[in-house]
Amino acid sequence: MRTIHVSLQEAEDSIGKVDARVLVCDVLGVDRAFLATHPFHILTETQDARIDMLVAQRLLGQPVAYLVGKREFYGRDFEVDGNVLIPRPDTETLVEAALKRMPATACSVLDLGTGSGAIAITLACERAEARATAVDKSAGALAVARANAERLAPGRVEFLEGSWFAPVAGRRFDLVVANPPYVAAKDPHLGQGDLRFEPPGALTDGSADGLDSIRAIVAGAREHLNPGGWLLLEHGYDQSETARALFEAAGLREFASIPDLAGIQRVAAGRAA
Ligand SMILES: C[S@@+](CC[C@H](N)C(=O)[O-])C[C@H]1O[C@@H](n2cnc3c(N)ncnc32)[C@H](O)[C@@H]1O
Repeated sequence: MRTIHVSLQEAEDSIGKVDARVLVCDVLGVDRAFLATHPFHILTETQDARIDMLVAQRLLGQPVAYLVGKREFYGRDFEVDGNVLIPRPDTETLVEAALKRMPATACSVLDLGTGSGAIAITLACERAEARATAVDKSAGALAVARANAERLAPGRVEFLEGSWFAPVAGRRFDLVVANPPYVAAKDPHLGQGDLRFEPPGALTDGSADGLDSIRAIVAGAREHLNPGGWLLLEHGYDQSETARALFEAAGLREFASIPDLAGIQRVAAGRAA
């Protein structure tokens, strides 16, 4: 039977320190401090076997978030599985930009392509007055998002299945936010790292430049925004200028391009007249 120290050392040698600690903590149901303060704690046979199994899956490339079934986003744990994109720290830039533009009074928010529900649920949690609607074309993703909402913001988010604005025909919102697929169809990154395991339809819309979803959302935004309402979109590292042109062509004003923590232009914002 192995101790925490031995098990951790073996896992670290295979998959590196950070991933090893996350997996061992998850199996034992403890935090990182426990690993440091209980090195001679003996694992049960089941724990031992489970750690070996998770390390083997990680070695095959499975993302850690899928192995432990969760990822932290904006200070909250979101359940994730292979039906949803793993929420990225970059997307917190979109959340911050949205919070800055949300009216302090009661307001309506639409999150297009909600995936795990990370954006819609975070905005609902951060603003008690907001009513959030979340759309995704994937039924599997919506099941995950609903479970997250049930735990983090019960009764606060409406979920609808369909393509972009189709499920909200005739409705208007104070804020429309989206982190749509924006990777070009032939981008080699799609075949590398964690991306190999995420739903392809969450990463790319299959268009040569990856911008078809952004084009569709920008084109439909004015018909679904209240006067003065904002559209905020996450986009790829090299898509800021195209986003600006699309926002202007769609008659959205006060265009702003917002950098992520690495200083890369990552979020486009524009306002309905
Ligand atoms: C990049 S993921 C974003 C997930 C989540 N909002 C986040 O930021 O972590 C894009 C999401 O858009 C959804 N999607 C793709 N095409 C769609 C469409 N035509 N209509 C609605 N949702 C779509 C995918 O299923 C996926 O959940």
